[in-house]
Amino acid sequence: MKLGLIGNPIKHSLSPWIHNQLLQQANISGEYNLYELEPGSFTEQVELLRKEGLNGFNVTVPFKQKIMMELDDVDTQAELIGAVNTVKVENGQWTGFNTDGKGFLNSLKVKYPDISSSDINILILGAGGAAKGIFYTLVHAGFENIDIANRTSARVKEMTKGNDKTKRSGILSLAEAENHVADYDLIIQTTTVGMKPHTEQQIISLENIREGTIVSDIVYQPLMTAFLKEASEKGARIHQGHEMLLYQAVYAFEIWTGASLDEQGLLETLEAHLKGA
Ligand code: ATR
Repeated sequence: MKLGLIGNPIKHSLSPWIHNQLLQQANISGEYNLYELEPGSFTEQVELLRKEGLNGFNVTVPFKQKIMMELDDVDTQAELIGAVNTVKVENGQWTGFNTDGKGFLNSLKVKYPDISSSDINILILGAGGAAKGIFYTLVHAGFENIDIANRTSARVKEMTKGNDKTKRSGILSLAEAENHVADYDLIIQTTTVGMKPHTEQQIISLENIREGTIVSDIVYQPLMTAFLKEASEKGARIHQGHEMLLYQAVYAFEIWTGASLDEQGLLETLEAHLKGA
């Protein structure tokens, strides 16, 4: 099995480490290589990539949208999100998927099965690529009450443009979100705020949060962000960034290989790896 990652920069990516673990657990011999492509000559380099004999590859910044022009087919979810992070190669045909949102939702449902009720109130913080993947996955899964707060409100409008399914998808400022945290059952932090080395930063205060609310942060370095620490101290339940990271990788691996894996064991291995990093 020949797998890989395209993006730039990708030297510090965790994907090779994760996918090598997955290959080992699935007992599949293979390799996962890094292809750091130059944005200026993307099309030419993709032509070279076609000759590599890959069975599949991941796509990261800044090519998640650009790669879509090179595909023979795109799965519905990725089309809706407008970005592809996983490509499957079969008989020379390239099919694009987006595993971020589903990785997020699957990892959350495994940890908190009560999340399946679609009438819960959800708050998404941020309106970048990660927020968009999560938003459309939640909409697709039937969740109807999703508010979004972002520093720049115009980006939320842009992000939710294609959506006509949610009954209510309010746009809030970060200050409004902070004042209303008690209204939500699930709060999802999708920005880079709090990521190493700025670990003291926190997008909003959780002073007024209700006990039992689920608070999720997609940042996984550190594993326990300031945001999650405050959530936990206030009696909220937490969902950490490495859980989404692992599940989106496992879902991509399943698309390529058809193998089904033990996510829980892998999650512990990833946690130990990140703690040691
Ligand atoms: P990605 O595609 O990886 O999600 P992005 O498109 O750059 O990254 O989006 C980053 C998100 O983090 C955005 O919601 C951004 O807010 P703006 O749209 O207002 O730029 C948010 N973000 C980044 N730094 C921030 C900060 N210091 N305070 C608040 N929000 C921040």
